[in-house]
Amino acid sequence: KIPVIIDCDPGHDDALMLMLAFGSGKFDVKAVTTSAGNQTQDKTMSNALKLLTLIGAKNVPVYRGAEKPLFRNLIIADYVHGETGLDGPALPAPAFEPENKSAVEGIAEILSVSTEKITIVPTGPLTNIATFLLAYPHLKDRIERISLMGGGIFRGNMTPLAEFNIFADPEAAHIVFKSGIPITMCGLDVTHKALVFQKDIELLRSIGNNTGKAAADLMDFFSIFYRENRTELDGGAALHDPCAIAWLIEPEMFKSKPCFVDVEINGMLTMGTTVVDFYNVTGKEPNAEVVYDIDRERYIEMLYEAIRTLP
Ligand code: BDR
Ligand code: CA
Repeated sequence: KIPVIIDCDPGHDDALMLMLAFGSGKFDVKAVTTSAGNQTQDKTMSNALKLLTLIGAKNVPVYRGAEKPLFRNLIIADYVHGETGLDGPALPAPAFEPENKSAVEGIAEILSVSTEKITIVPTGPLTNIATFLLAYPHLKDRIERISLMGGGIFRGNMTPLAEFNIFADPEAAHIVFKSGIPITMCGLDVTHKALVFQKDIELLRSIGNNTGKAAADLMDFFSIFYRENRTELDGGAALHDPCAIAWLIEPEMFKSKPCFVDVEINGMLTMGTTVVDFYNVTGKEPNAEVVYDIDRERYIEMLYEAIRTLP
């Protein structure tokens, strides 16, 4: 099993990411930490606890992350994820409490005692991970890889070129991409091919368990934004975050390329953009495996298989 720490901001697609991580049986999840992003820290934390309760993962330590980005004001994505951050399904009340330490302390403690290197999977703004790297630089070598959802090569969803997770805390993303840790970047290029259609939602619902029902109800709500605002996706919703987990399970189902990636933190038009040197025109050493295509059918099948194993 791959030892991982998951840093997320649930979030509908974060929710399916957690279902895939736990249901696939491929991971030893050492902790879940929460970032503020899709909603406030209070709400993403509460959502993480509810989801872990739903999927029967009550023994996983959950740590509270930062309330806001390093330097900027908090922006949330309630226009996609609703007032709660997980609008749609009725979820169980949290059956357990978060740890008393912060996300940064939790990550440091886990990395210090672990005998194996740990992969970090961030699917929200990178505030917690950047803060950790600043506070505990000597533990950097204990990280095997960072497989993240964020950024894009040729498109944005917050500005024409900037994606939400990077745009929300660009300085944090800058620190992460400069860290020297191997990075897998699942940006909008791949996640807009990781589409979930109505028939896929019904497939998840047909599993008949509580997790499948919640996944389907979550996707029903999530799809509204995509149907109304992304008509070129033909009714599909871009299921971003599970890509960062799916790549760790089966990288062969994706297409990717090692690239040098920098993060624009000042640009007049491009603040928060991942500047991806896709054709290596700078000659700089690649710092990220940039994922740009996916076998969508296999992705859906993988989600189905994982959710089937959950309560
Ligand atoms: C990313 O932003 C959030 O709204 C989603 O959860 C995903 O992590 C997509 O841009
Ligand atoms: Ca997310």
